[in-house]
Amino acid sequence: MKAKESMLLGAHLGGLAITASGTTAVHALSYPLGGRYHIPHGVSNAILFAPVMRMNRDACKERFAVLSDIVWPERSQKSDDWKVEHMIQEIEDIVSFMRIPASLAAFNVPKEDLEWLVDAGSKVTRLLSNNRKELTLDEIRSIYQTVL
Ligand SMILES: [Fe+2]
Repeated sequence: MKAKESMLLGAHLGGLAITASGTTAVHALSYPLGGRYHIPHGVSNAILFAPVMRMNRDACKERFAVLSDIVWPERSQKSDDWKVEHMIQEIEDIVSFMRIPASLAAFNVPKEDLEWLVDAGSKVTRLLSNNRKELTLDEIRSIYQTVL
């Protein structure tokens, strides 16, 4: 019962966070992965999180640095570039620790579906329009190539 209570609270807090902040390119590019390959949305979000952060880094550097300062105040003297790179690395480490695959190959997504993914992902404009960096088709393609 304690574990169930904790999961319930975690889901509630997650819902509050998403409602307050909205979601962006990670979730947009995840939708085709759930719809066609039945990859759980949280798993595909985890796989795409770091690659999308890398693509967004220049548009979000100052915000990422502020977040880094909150989470790791001992790193506050480092450069913004250093903070962002290490934050992205922390995300990758968490995904790895959770034993979530870094590649869509683990879900039998064929590399030949790249252009279908780019087309489908780029159509989730409701969420892509929330992204701080407007992503081109080439940038969306690059993100998917990173995880295929
Ligand atoms: Fe989502």
